[in-house]
Formats: sequence, structure tokens, C-alpha cells
Amino acid sequence: MFHRFRRWLTPDVALDLGTTWTRIAIPGRGVVLEEPSVIALETGSRRILGRGTCVGTLARQMVGRTPDSISAVQPIRNGAITDFELCEAMVSYFLRKAMKGAKGHPRVVVTVPSGLSPVESRAVFTSVERAGAERVFLLPVTKAACIGAGLPISEPLASMVCDLGGGASQVSVMSLGDEVAGQTLPVAGDHLDQAIIDFLRRQHALRVSSSTAEQIKREVGSAVPLDRELSIEIRGLDIISGVARKVVIVSEEVRLALADPLHEVVQGIRSTIERCHPQLVADLADTGMVLTGGTAQLRGMEQFLREQIGIPVRRDHDPERTSIRGALICLEHFDLWKESLVTDGR
Ligand SMILES: Nc1ncnc2c1ncn2[C@@H]1O[C@H](COP(=O)(O)OP(=O)(O)OP(=O)(O)O)[C@@H](O)[C@H]1O
Ligand SMILES: [Mg+2]
Repeated sequence: MFHRFRRWLTPDVALDLGTTWTRIAIPGRGVVLEEPSVIALETGSRRILGRGTCVGTLARQMVGRTPDSISAVQPIRNGAITDFELCEAMVSYFLRKAMKGAKGHPRVVVTVPSGLSPVESRAVFTSVERAGAERVFLLPVTKAACIGAGLPISEPLASMVCDLGGGASQVSVMSLGDEVAGQTLPVAGDHLDQAIIDFLRRQHALRVSSSTAEQIKREVGSAVPLDRELSIEIRGLDIISGVARKVVIVSEEVRLALADPLHEVVQGIRSTIERCHPQLVADLADTGMVLTGGTAQLRGMEQFLREQIGIPVRRDHDPERTSIRGALICLEHFDLWKESLVTDGR
């Protein structure tokens, strides 16, 4: 009874700490916060701007627009925390905002890349505890994605998920509740943006920001030829003359720019499947693979991977939120899923 009253006062929290987005969900309320994983600092003192409030959406607007005295920092890179102090400050700010002034320290289920070393896991426990959590549970992001996508991972049947995020892609084959084969690939949305930046520099002698590259990717990017090819007019800086210039980019060019990183994803998925027992591979030919993460929304991604890998591929209906939904399900049915959560052994 006391336990339930305490939960009512301090809700439990599901947290997806992504390279580009942080998402928080609360039982009974769903996803309550979704903000860029960015924090704006005074360069010298490393003080957070706006008396500690220049975090998330506000800080994101500053990326690429800051004078030397200010820096906009992403404390998570390639799916892993790289600046623990800032990560703690960011999570602390987001938890307070999501809990809307509720007092007390919540239990927090955090999604983490699979295969974290004990030292890296320890660092996540410490960061999130210092940010205000009473108890922290880690959930591998691919497991969260499978649960969120409704895959029957506890059954003796292969379930496969590929989470294509911003900083890393994670592939995993699960059976009987555990990962049978999996890997983290260092190629995802940010790398696609970088490939577009490199392509424009080489082919058009044009320098563009990462936000322009992301806009190109979203608006005209594709993994397969389109019925009606698209085009977009963008502005950049001419590398030779140093003046601003407009240029029209067509989707065929963007596809060419994205070919190498997309090929790396294919190689990663193939090598994961190769590590599975033939019986599980036979299952996969029926059950197929589910795509989650923001990059799963690239035009034609399902068709591309279906053709390249040769198994059925489907995209989750809300791929950016599959993992946080999975983490929320674990919280809402805590006793059912607690075996899947990693604790710090207390
Ligand atoms: N329509 C779209 N087409 C292509 N890419 C997209 C689209 N929408 C979002 N993205 C990309 O999805 C990525 C963000 O995905 P997501 O929110 O899953 O990442 P994350 O969880 O923050 O990162 P990670 O899981 O790698 O730590 C960004 O790179 C973004 O550019
Ligand atoms: Mg993610």
C-alpha cells in the first residue's frame, strides 16, 4: 500500500538517451518529453547557459550559430555517453521537466547500447543516479525495440530488429528472451548527413552545415530509385569564392552520396545473420526483420534492405519511439520483465 502511494507521488520513468534525441515516458501518461540531446555552455567556465535551462530544444537552435564564447555540446556520441558531467546535467534537467515538479526520486529504466563494458554500464548508473534517480535499471536498446515492436522475444523463435538511430545502428537476433547474435554498427543518421556534406564539397565545391545536410536527407534522401525523383534548392558556401551560393540537389545525387554508409549497414546485418544457427536463419526467412529508429524513415529503406538481405522487412509504425515504448512496457509490467533489466547488484 505504502509502495503504491509512493509510486503515485513519484512516478517511475522510462528514459531513452539517444545520440540525437532524449525521450522520457511515464506509466499512464506515455511519452512526456522528447528533446534534442544537446546542452549549451559558456566555453571557458563550462557553465550551462540560461541559468541551467539552455538544454534540449533551446540549445539545439544554437548548434552551428554560436560565437566562440558559447558551445553547443552533445554529451552522447555514436550511441554512448562521452561527457558524463554534461550528460548528468542534461538528464537531471529533463527528469525535472518531465516529472513536472513531482517530489522524490524515481525508479528509472534506461535504454543502453547492447554490449556495454562493465565500466561503461557503471558510468550510466552513476550519471542517472546523480541526476536524481533512486534506482536505475539498464535495458539493452534492441530488447526495448523488440518489446516496443511487439515481437515474441520470449518464444523459441528468431526475432530480429535493426535500430537505425542517429549515432549508431544496432542489430540483434533474439530467441528465448536473449540475444543470440548482435552488433553495434558505427553508422547511422549522423553518418548519412556527413556523407551528404562530403559529397557536396566534392561534387559542387559547396560547404553546407549538418542541419542543411539533414534537411536534404529528410526531404529528398532515398535508399532506392523513386517513381518520381525529387529535388531541393539549398544554400551553402562556395569553397573557392567564399560567397553564399544556391544549388539544386536531386534525389539521384543524394542516393549516390548515401550508397557507401548504406552498404555498411547491409554488411553489418549480413554478418549478424551469418553468426546465427541455421535453424534460426530459417526462422528469419519467415519472421523477418523489424526496422526501428529515426533513420528507418529514409525513403525506401524497407525495400532496400529486403532486396539486399533477402528476408521480409517491415518498419515499426512509429520507429523513433519504438525503444521508449518498449522501456515503458517494461516499467508497466515490471515483474514480468525484471529479469531483462540489468541492475547494479544492490
Ligand atoms: N524522414 C527521415 N528520413 C531520414 N532520416 C531521418 C528522418 N527522420 C529522422 N531521421 C534521422 O533519424 C535520426 C534520429 O533517430 P533516433 O531518434 O532514433 O536517434 P537517437 O535515438 O537519438 O540516436 P541513437 O539511437 O543512435 O543514439 C537522425 O539522424 C535523423 O536525421
Ligand atoms: Mg536511439
